Amino acid sequence: MRKNKSSKNWIIQQHRDQYFKQAKSSGFRSRSAYKLLELNTKFKLFKNCKTAIDLGSYPGGWSQILKKKLKNCKILSIDIKKMEKIDGVDFLCCDFQKEKSKEKILKKLSNKADLLVSDMAADTTGNKDLDCIRTNALCAEVIEFSSFVINESGVVIAKLFNGKDFLNVKNLAQNKFRKVNFFKPESSKAYSKETYIHCAGIKTL
Ligand SMILES: C[S@@+](CC[C@H](N)C(=O)[O-])C[C@H]1O[C@@H](n2cnc3c(N)ncnc32)[C@H](O)[C@@H]1O
Repeated sequence: MRKNKSSKNWIIQQHRDQYFKQAKSSGFRSRSAYKLLELNTKFKLFKNCKTAIDLGSYPGGWSQILKKKLKNCKILSIDIKKMEKIDGVDFLCCDFQKEKSKEKILKKLSNKADLLVSDMAADTTGNKDLDCIRTNALCAEVIEFSSFVINESGVVIAKLFNGKDFLNVKNLAQNKFRKVNFFKPESSKAYSKETYIHCAGIKTL
């Protein structure tokens, strides 16, 4: 039997929902946890990581993965929403976009980070272009901030949308880093314009 487009989409959705079920049964707080696992398989993020920052950490799926995979690593998680405690993970409840929050993050770190991950997404408004602009602005701010918090061999992963301002963010990243790649994990919903930017090799003057 030939499958039409909507039944194909339905099957794809069911398949993708496996991640939700899998996250529940594995005790992960979000299906996003699998995105970070896939990003790690692609970019080997966890190698020699001693300090990691997780921006937009609530409810905590990515922080759980960082805790599980990184031994003897300082992990600092940040979200505007209060995240339930994860043993061994330091948490700051604040708005990343406020200057004071950035100062607080810097104060918390005794060493520069090896890994800065951001899954931050702006609240949805119903206007897709606006949502895209706001999430991509967060991504740009993460890239700007990374110069202050990661070491020379540090790596940045950040969510962005393949839409308005995508090229501006890409250009910004290419001005700051020698290597810039994009990767959409299998566990990211196919209909979503979400993707992740991977930046490595910070350019020094
Ligand atoms: C997709 S969720 C993150 C899911 C998380 N990675 C996980 O695995 O559980 C996006 C998060 O970004 C946070 N966020 C959005 N804007 C923020 C900001 N300005 N400062 C801090 N957190 C922010 C939201 O509160 C939300 O919890």
